[in-house]
Amino acid sequence: MKINGTPYRSVWRDAADPRLVHIFDQTRLPWELDILDLKDMDAVAHAIRSMQVRGAPLIGAVAAYGLAFALDRDPSDQGLHAAAAALVETRPTAINLRWAIERMVAHLKPVPPGERADAAYREADAICDEDVEVNEAIGRHGLALFKELWDGRRPGQERLNLLTHCNAGWIATVDWGTALAPIYMAHDLGIPVHVWVDETRPRNQGALLTAWELGAHGVPHTLVADNAGGHLMQHGNVDCVIVGTDRVTRQGDVANKIGTYLKALAAHDNNVPFWVALPSSTIDWRVRDGMQEIPIEERSAEEVTFVHGLNEQDRPARLRVTPKTTQAANPAFDVTPARLVTGLLTERGPCAATAEGLAGLFPEQARA
Ligand code: MRU
Repeated sequence: MKINGTPYRSVWRDAADPRLVHIFDQTRLPWELDILDLKDMDAVAHAIRSMQVRGAPLIGAVAAYGLAFALDRDPSDQGLHAAAAALVETRPTAINLRWAIERMVAHLKPVPPGERADAAYREADAICDEDVEVNEAIGRHGLALFKELWDGRRPGQERLNLLTHCNAGWIATVDWGTALAPIYMAHDLGIPVHVWVDETRPRNQGALLTAWELGAHGVPHTLVADNAGGHLMQHGNVDCVIVGTDRVTRQGDVANKIGTYLKALAAHDNNVPFWVALPSSTIDWRVRDGMQEIPIEERSAEEVTFVHGLNEQDRPARLRVTPKTTQAANPAFDVTPARLVTGLLTERGPCAATAEGLAGLFPEQARA
């Protein structure tokens, strides 16, 4: 995607020093376009934990480079396994992290230690390139869905109203995004899409990142408080909800940013289609029941008791929004049961959020 006319991916290797990797510091967006240098595994682990990089596919891609950095220092079997274990622990819910690390380990184990680091950089590059292709494919399938919705519009309807939660855009992946990919494509094709952007407390990924991305691409959008979605749906102002996800179980339960479940409930009550866009690397074939088996990350209470913004001098500022003694809880994700999901939008096309739907699209994975 482009920022001020310049094309970027959200992670890339330095042109002059191929053992240097760059990311945008997402804790500074949208106010500052701060490009960080990553050179060692600890910096990668810190970037993931502190959410300088975030979004399930991007976490996996950046972790893959983290493993390459570690192998530069210690390419032994022990070094490989220790680095893999340390990286997988950085965030618990997004399965793409484990997927990327397991793919790297499987690829690197048969490689002689002296050649492992080079092979690791190449495999991390491949993960990034594939992520871009996969998201583009998700975008094309989602575009077909939006065209269908637009063709079936009500007489006099002037725009296709979509609603999204959190940020599943290009900055959450290597490029394109998952939920936002079809939105970009529909907009580019002249379908008059308009996006209701949930602010997505507590970290405000919608207000900060989705609004920034859509604005940069010229996609009409309106920011709403997280609790506005149900009201908008009751009044016929949402044609489709589309979100990304951090983990989908083999029966179609969906873990995503906290608050997603409430949007799915409201969509169900109002007959609004609720779609989830995902690369197949987000499917956890080892788990079935999302409520029981997906670990939900609990983050710092300070993300709830403080907000970040710009002060009147346009300087980044942090403000407490509660009494000083208030205790807060901060579960970062929730699970939407498959029965509330209209469909899953993958790189191989759409399917029902059921074991049969997923197995039909990915028979080789479902059998394994
Ligand atoms: O905590 P975050 O910001 O990493 O959470 C991100 C989300 O919930 C996204 O919707 C999800 O990772 C999909 S990104 C394509």
